[in-house]
Amino acid sequence: MRKFLLTTAAVFGLTAMAHADEVEVLHWWTSGGEAAALNVLKKNLESQGITWKDMPVAGGGGDAAMTALRARVTAGNPPTAVQALGFDITDWAKQGVVGDLTEVATREGWDKVVPAALQNFSKYDGKWIAAPVNVHSTNWVWINKAALDAAGGKAPTSWDELVAVLDKMKANGLTPVAHGGQAWQEATIFDGVVLSLGADFYKSAFIDLDPKALDSDKMVEAFDRMAKLRSYVDDNFSGRDWNLASAMVIEGKAGMQFMGDWAKGEFLKAGKVPGKDFVCIRFPGTQGAVTFNSDQFMMFKVGDASQKAQLQMASDIESPAFQSAFNVVKGSVPARTDVPNDAFDDCGKKGMADLADASKNNLLFGSMAHGHAAPAAIKNALYDVVTKHFNGEMDSKAAAKALAEAVAAAKG
Ligand code: GAL
Repeated sequence: MRKFLLTTAAVFGLTAMAHADEVEVLHWWTSGGEAAALNVLKKNLESQGITWKDMPVAGGGGDAAMTALRARVTAGNPPTAVQALGFDITDWAKQGVVGDLTEVATREGWDKVVPAALQNFSKYDGKWIAAPVNVHSTNWVWINKAALDAAGGKAPTSWDELVAVLDKMKANGLTPVAHGGQAWQEATIFDGVVLSLGADFYKSAFIDLDPKALDSDKMVEAFDRMAKLRSYVDDNFSGRDWNLASAMVIEGKAGMQFMGDWAKGEFLKAGKVPGKDFVCIRFPGTQGAVTFNSDQFMMFKVGDASQKAQLQMASDIESPAFQSAFNVVKGSVPARTDVPNDAFDDCGKKGMADLADASKNNLLFGSMAHGHAAPAAIKNALYDVVTKHFNGEMDSKAAAKALAEAVAAAKG
């Protein structure tokens, strides 16, 4: 009997240990470029003796991943670590289900190196609850270099120049705009379009949620611009995944894609070189300003056994060497301000410089499309209107009115 008890204890001890050194990670990084970046994190953890249990939930922007997360938390069985964006992190923190990383954050001085714009989401009630892994931004355009050369060679810097280049690409027999018809992708373009009508306008409409900006002549103009861009997509755009749209530009079948800098991860994965094979520019008219989103790993309360692995993972994520290695592959820029830019390509260097300048000049705004301007309820209300309009179900005037109404209803 004694022997049995000892053996049982030993077995339980082992199980607990195995658990202590394991992280189950819920994420939506399933495209080629995303998976390559995720692998940097996975390998880094495995080299510390931590086992990686993968829980991928495909779907750009993470809506499907958040639905899967809700089911796991409701069942009382949350994953150890979860990729999450902006206000979603805050929403979970309010439910009292997230873990506490303050111990490691304090020891490593995160407060001094993580920008305040990210800390707004990484912290709740004075505690660190998530480890930011990157800073992405949505107001980018990815252009096939040969297609641009054939269209005159000059990257557009204003709306009119953009339209002129798109017209030339069309005349050259290309699909000018590579687009995937999914609500979050349309909303991603909308970030850039709204910002192109003025930083103040973006702020009053999306950050302050001012009804007078949401239902305004400027918003009608923003929707008109969306309708114009819609006229440059191919017939098969509906439902297409974002990375397949990137592939159209990579392969020279389409001229350009309006997408966050995770698209660069696809170009790099395909062996393409910025400046030679593709060109990265800010959405014309938004130079100097940045609409950002930051992927963070939010840790859930999973008991003491797994906390060790959680803290280790958080510490690994914030190490400057990891921040460089990961973001070089992902297309994003580091989530801390003290990481050298040497390892980054020209688009990455530009991304880092743009972020610093925008922050200094008060032109850094949370992305509405990616959960950093307003909570999910408002974001989803906007998705609906933008997509309906993009698909011709309402005109621009009706869309601006519907947007103001939907946001007001979601605000409650
Ligand atoms: C964003 C996320 C990026 C990228 C993209 C497409 O929301 O921040 O890391 O994964 O979705 O899936």
